[in-house]
Amino acid sequence: MAKIGVFDSGIGGLTLAAEIKKELSLHSIIYFGDTAHFPYGEKSTTSIQSYAIKICNLLLEQGCEIILIACNSASASSYELVKEYVGKRAKVFNVIDSVVDYVCKQYNQEQIGLIGTKRTVDSNIYAERIAKGNNSIQLHSLATPLLAPMIEEGFFNKSISNSIIAEYLSTQSFKKIAAIILGCTHYPLIKEDIALFFNHKVEVIDSPNIVVKKIAAYIADNNISNEIIVDHKFYVSDYTSSFNNSTQLFFGQKINLLEYKLWE
Ligand code: DGL
Repeated sequence: MAKIGVFDSGIGGLTLAAEIKKELSLHSIIYFGDTAHFPYGEKSTTSIQSYAIKICNLLLEQGCEIILIACNSASASSYELVKEYVGKRAKVFNVIDSVVDYVCKQYNQEQIGLIGTKRTVDSNIYAERIAKGNNSIQLHSLATPLLAPMIEEGFFNKSISNSIIAEYLSTQSFKKIAAIILGCTHYPLIKEDIALFFNHKVEVIDSPNIVVKKIAAYIADNNISNEIIVDHKFYVSDYTSSFNNSTQLFFGQKINLLEYKLWE
């Protein structure tokens, strides 16, 4: 039986939790959104690492055998450390490696774009991993810090959001890309807007589907059985009704967030 722990800087990681609920419906999700420290995209690596360890302790205490670092900024800054810290107590997944594997297999001698937070882009992790997996690929990365707060406010599929998206994506370095990686929890919500910007001529790659397939394969390979009673829990480190209202956007249905004061 596997409870799947999912953590993120806030509620954006619910895009991953929604995919887990869809594909692995017989496993319980324990979600932790660190809303007290949102946004991770603007935090230092050391701060994110210390948050991640504390959150993992909570997920382990709750009996999670699988932990998904749903946040790109946290995956970029803390995956290696978390994996080492957690050791054999749980299997740890991030949202970067499976997407990198996918890109390295699907593309050859092509230019690929990446958008994400400043933390993710500055970490250079996608560029390093892709260079290792397939050095014929040329990656162009762009930090797009306005997008996550904009989406959180429900601004997508609107003229103002399309102007911001167009402003970012019009960069010269994206002129010849064959695909673009959405390197942030929030961006699946603007996948269609981005596809439209490129007139559907560029593959728009988001992580939920690719990452959850990898977790599903791990569960199958290790004969991990389903749970008898599926019981999801959604915690945040700082509750506001605005976060609660936005869960519908990211999870596809309204859920009740529970406050867990991990930092007191
Ligand atoms: N969850 C973050 C990520 O995927 C986006 C929001 C933030 O900056 O915390 O990078």
